[in-house]
Amino acid sequence: MQTIIHGDCLKYLRTLPDQSVSLILTDPPYGLGIAKKGQIGSGKRFTPKRWDVLPPREVFAEMRRVSRHQVIWGGNYFTHYLPPSRCWLVWYKKDGLPKNSFADCELAWTSFNRNAAVFNCRWSGFVKDSREPRVAHPTQKALEVMKWCVAEFSQPEDSILDPFLGSGTTAVAAKLLLRRFTGIEIDREYVAIAHKRLAEAA
Ligand SMILES: C[S@@+](CC[C@H](N)C(=O)[O-])C[C@H]1O[C@@H](n2cnc3c(N)ncnc32)[C@H](O)[C@@H]1O
Repeated sequence: MQTIIHGDCLKYLRTLPDQSVSLILTDPPYGLGIAKKGQIGSGKRFTPKRWDVLPPREVFAEMRRVSRHQVIWGGNYFTHYLPPSRCWLVWYKKDGLPKNSFADCELAWTSFNRNAAVFNCRWSGFVKDSREPRVAHPTQKALEVMKWCVAEFSQPEDSILDPFLGSGTTAVAAKLLLRRFTGIEIDREYVAIAHKRLAEAA
C-alpha cells in the first residue's frame, strides 16, 4: 500500500507517535536554490520554484523521533542537524563520464551502525544508467539508487516514509519492492507527477 499526501511534512510529522515508522528514506532540499533556475545542465526545463531552502532543525528532530531508522540524502548539507554516523552512503554518478560542473557523487547520512557503502549509477546530463524517463522535477533521484536503499535498509513488512517526496521516486521504489509507503509533498505539480509515476510503476 502506497499513500501520497499533499501537505507540509513538519505538520504531518508532528502528528506521528514516536518510532511509529520503520524507515525514513528521504531527499530534503539542500538549500542550493537549484529549483529557482527552471533549467538544469542537460537543458531540460522545469517550472521555476522556491522550495530549495534548508528545512528547519525541527524537521530533522521530528524525522528521528518518529522513525526507528533514517537514510537522508544530501546528508553533507545537514551535518549541523545530525549526529556522527558510521554508515554514510555514496551514490557515485560519474563512472567513466567526463568531468563537468556537477558533483561526482551524492552523500546520504544514515542512522545505521554498518559499514559505509558506495552505489554506482551513471547520472549526468543526457547520460544515465536509469531507464526511467526524466520528469518535470529538477532534482529527480535515480530510481536504482532508491531501490538499493529500500532493499538494503528495510524488510518487506516495514513501513517507509518520505517527507520530501518530490516526483515520487521513493514511492515507486517502495511499490516495486512491496513495502508499505507514505510520501508527503508540498507542491501540487509534483504530487500529480508522483501519483502518475506510482500508477504506472509495475
Ligand atoms: C530534493 S526534492 C526531492 C526529489 C525527489 N527525491 C525525487 O526523486 O523527485 C525535495 C522536495 O521537497 C519538497 N518540499 C519542500 N519543503 C517541503 C515541506 N515542508 N513538506 C513537504 N515537501 C516539501 C519540495 O517541493 C521538493 O519537491
